[in-house]
Amino acid sequence: MILNAFSSNPPSIPSIWFMRQAGRYLPEYLKVREHAGSFLDLCYNPEFATIVTMQPIDKFDFDAAILFSDILVVPDALGMQVSFVKGEGPKLVPLTNQSDIDALNVENFHQEIDKVYQAVASIRKALPKDKDLIGFCGAPWTLLTYMLGGVGSVDQKIGRLFSYNHPELMNQLLVLLSDVLADYLFMQAKNGAQVLMIFDSWASNLADDEFDRLVVEPTHNLVKKLKAKLKAAGMDAVKIIAFPRGAGEKYPYYAKNVDIDGLAFDTSVDLEWIRDAIHADITLQGNLDPLLLVAGGERLNKRVDHICDVMQGRRFIFNLGHGIIPETPQQHVHQVINQIRSR
Ligand code: CP3
Repeated sequence: MILNAFSSNPPSIPSIWFMRQAGRYLPEYLKVREHAGSFLDLCYNPEFATIVTMQPIDKFDFDAAILFSDILVVPDALGMQVSFVKGEGPKLVPLTNQSDIDALNVENFHQEIDKVYQAVASIRKALPKDKDLIGFCGAPWTLLTYMLGGVGSVDQKIGRLFSYNHPELMNQLLVLLSDVLADYLFMQAKNGAQVLMIFDSWASNLADDEFDRLVVEPTHNLVKKLKAKLKAAGMDAVKIIAFPRGAGEKYPYYAKNVDIDGLAFDTSVDLEWIRDAIHADITLQGNLDPLLLVAGGERLNKRVDHICDVMQGRRFIFNLGHGIIPETPQQHVHQVINQIRSR
């Protein structure tokens, strides 16, 4: 259960789940992945997506499952060409002008992405009642870094330059994605997701006015629309966590201006600072270094205790500061979970 971390009386032992908890550090994942065909085939196969989502729950007894999918199924379902090249990461045929934007197929979106909704329903059915299901999407800006750049990059140069050179086109894309993503997350909730997470993985590197325009405003609009839909459907118990990774000193500004229930923060963030800088009503989620989880040993034990000590008494979910990496020894995952639960 991670939903109890959003109550005014949070548990003294924090709930635990890890970003990318289903993935290549698990041999049983690699097996299913091989059977499925391409990575996107796996994402669009509800039966296989359910199997790999359940693997880390069965093995480590995490408190929540996260839908097995990817943020880039959204541009794929909008009709863009998306592929995952082994060892290189995602590749898209990028948007460059108005006619590329006009060609995005919003009308067919839900139909194209229906297999993901089927996966959500199937996972919720397979999960024990005491485990929550997390649905997710990429935030408009992070999706656009891929949709405009065609690949991942360290500086998001193409997307950032596009925003300065073509502000009207950028606005059009931000509005389009905020609307589509609000509907997408709402449909995930309708199919059984109880927590919805918004990944803004490239929220670093932006000037403060661009942070406002590309990260805060579009995500605020997305969340506003999503909450209205949830409320109208009597589903306001669904919680929303956002992760503007690398936002640094802008995390508090973000949390004040986007109407979220939870804030995930990355490994570089000072623990005491964020504990005190974010309103106590907002659940914090983070931030163990995924590399320390690889390294293990006494440093790992000490750090896990330190994170729990600092967050003691606060609404808090124990997680990593970014996704688990393929080199991670499974024994270290067991060890961290046992350590937290025996506190
Ligand atoms: O277990 C989970 O957390 C759920 C599944 C999940 C994946 N991707 C599976 C995946 C989630 C929540 C994501 C989100 C995602 N995808 C983000 C945001 C979070 C972050 O990491 O910053 C981003 C930026 C992406 C885009 C993406 N997908 C990249 C850059 C890559 C290549 C890098 C890599 O690790 O290979 C992917 C591929 C991907 N997504 C894999 C998995 C398990 C590996 C694919 C494989 O099995 O070959």
